[in-house]
Amino acid sequence: MLIAVLGGTGNLGFALARRWALAGRRIVIGSRSADSAKAAAAEILKDAAGADVTGDENAAASAAADLVVLTVPFASQRAVLEHVKGALVGKVLIDATVPLVPPKVMRVQLPAEGSAAMLGAAIVGESVRVVSAFHNVPAEVIRTDAEVDCDVLVFGDDKAAREEAVSLAKDAGLRAFHAGALANSASAEALTSVLIFLNKQYGGHAGIRLTGLEHD
Ligand SMILES: NC(=O)c1ccc[n+]([C@@H]2O[C@H](COP(=O)([O-])OP(=O)(O)OC[C@H]3O[C@@H](n4cnc5c(N)ncnc54)[C@H](OP(=O)(O)O)[C@@H]3O)[C@@H](O)[C@H]2O)c1
Repeated sequence: MLIAVLGGTGNLGFALARRWALAGRRIVIGSRSADSAKAAAAEILKDAAGADVTGDENAAASAAADLVVLTVPFASQRAVLEHVKGALVGKVLIDATVPLVPPKVMRVQLPAEGSAAMLGAAIVGESVRVVSAFHNVPAEVIRTDAEVDCDVLVFGDDKAAREEAVSLAKDAGLRAFHAGALANSASAEALTSVLIFLNKQYGGHAGIRLTGLEHD
């Protein structure tokens, strides 16, 4: 399975792509610039020699991929999805967008659609199985090889599609949980602003940890 990471030149996408490459996943980094995507892929290959990592422009990367992960700022979510949506038909899209609206990123500001995930699903249409995940993982931490003490909540209306995200989270060294319908994504997206506040208040890179569940 080839996984496109759109915005894989940035903080979260690069960190996830690097971990997935190290775990043996086939990755194509997506960017507005094919050259930037190729440079990010080359950077990953320095740490993951022999891995299958390439780079391409976002639409070409989406067309080549079996599954697409979106890791771009909220302000560019619509533009990127409009640009690639023709290449997403029949595929799973894992959307990590958090609706942060600078400068007040420590304040919950969900869009009228209810969440960035619901907005993304409306943009790409029903032919794409949309899942949202990775809202609460600090890129600074997963950029390293450190063990990550942080869980991932996975939302989506299609269980098999959610399972793809759970599996990818595990390959990135994270615990992941099915957390229900895509409409529930609002909860994790909102929590990110709270985590950013906690980082400022106490220092560090806050994540979330679930307790009390029977989970391997
Ligand atoms: N950083 C974290 O710790 C973290 C954690 C959880 C969730 N998230 C969410 O994940 C998403 C990505 O976060 P990030 O920190 O990785 O973002 P970022 O580094 O600021 O940006 C990621 C990539 O998005 C692309 N991009 C930037 N501006 C764009 C524009 N105007 N139009 C199209 N593409 C644009 C750029 O790729 P190219 O220039 O190569 O096209 C950039 O490398 C956000 O929605 C964020 O809220 C982040």
